[in-house]
Amino acid sequence: MEEERIVSARMKSEEVRYEGSLRPQRLAEFIGQEKLKEKLGIYIKAALERGEPLDHVLLHGPPGLGKTTLAFIISREMQVNIKVTSGPAVERPGDLAALLTALAPGDILFIDEIHRLQRSVEEILYPAMEDFALDIIIGKGPAARTLRLDISPFTLIGATTRAGLISSPLRDRFGIVERVEFYDPAALSEIITRSASLLGVAVDAAGAAKLALASRGTPRIANRLLKRVRDYAQVRAEGMITPIVANAALEVLDVDPIGLDRTDYLLLQTIMHKFAGGPVGLDTLAAAINEESNTIEEIYEPYLMKIGFLKRTARGRVVTERVYEHLKMGNNNYRQQTL
Ligand SMILES: Nc1ncnc2c1ncn2[C@@H]1O[C@H](COP(=O)(O)OP(=O)(O)O)[C@@H](O)[C@H]1O
Ligand SMILES: [Mg+2]
Repeated sequence: MEEERIVSARMKSEEVRYEGSLRPQRLAEFIGQEKLKEKLGIYIKAALERGEPLDHVLLHGPPGLGKTTLAFIISREMQVNIKVTSGPAVERPGDLAALLTALAPGDILFIDEIHRLQRSVEEILYPAMEDFALDIIIGKGPAARTLRLDISPFTLIGATTRAGLISSPLRDRFGIVERVEFYDPAALSEIITRSASLLGVAVDAAGAAKLALASRGTPRIANRLLKRVRDYAQVRAEGMITPIVANAALEVLDVDPIGLDRTDYLLLQTIMHKFAGGPVGLDTLAAAINEESNTIEEIYEPYLMKIGFLKRTARGRVVTERVYEHLKMGNNNYRQQTL
């Protein structure tokens, strides 16, 4: 279900190709996240001036906000190679040891979804991050000894959507821990305008603003909407994405003006009608809408909380007055059908 959503922040398999072409390459090209950009810029410049690798960086925040993009930008700005892997891809401690010993001085190792590293693998990272060393155990039982092997100084960049799931010994070893935030509509408009010019799509400022509002604060969704709305503009309009074209296309796509789709409505209306507005526990809610708790927590909730539609309380999830107001405005035709 989540895979099919046009407003999913998760990357779809067919997007791997074009996402690369839309990715900003330099820090100066990266739109929004001003605070984070300023800090990273300072850390990078300082490390370059000292001729040292950058401190280890942990980037956390919802999917589609630019964590992978930033990792690649950092490697370019530091003028070093980047090796990419992910938590679930590293199966055994030896796999990670192999990656680490292959790094050249100053290189970056990027571990996506770092919260999914197995504990036995994670433990290899501690001495590697701290002392640029691997502790290798030779032999078994009472005769076992540890051998310390030096590796090149390197920078670990970890990315995660679930900062809370990172163990504290791992988290403590990152010198730089930064959260990527949802983008405001102005930044998203800028991203849409930039992507449109790279893709050769005609969009006017007001059209970009409409798409920005429906992008759930997320560049990945902004780019995806842009591509779908471009098709609509080409087939049903004169090719130019104006506000009228954008609105009409969003309606066809079943996305409301603030980026909510059927699943969001299902979630909100389930809380409203089946649980009297809440509070309702996550697992109960997940069962009621036939979705995984994890997906709700990682994908749906962050944006609904960000726009103040949903609250997490000690006793469960609660919808807010804003939801009732939004529903009253009547700007989407399927909301009554849902339940
Ligand atoms: N600040 C930004 N400016 C322009 N495009 C961006 C920005 N952040 C993300 N993007 C676009 O969104 C896509 C998703 O970003 P990505 O780095 O893969 O997100 P994450 O790793 O956090 O899931 C990228 O391919 C890129 O095209
Ligand atoms: Mg990523």
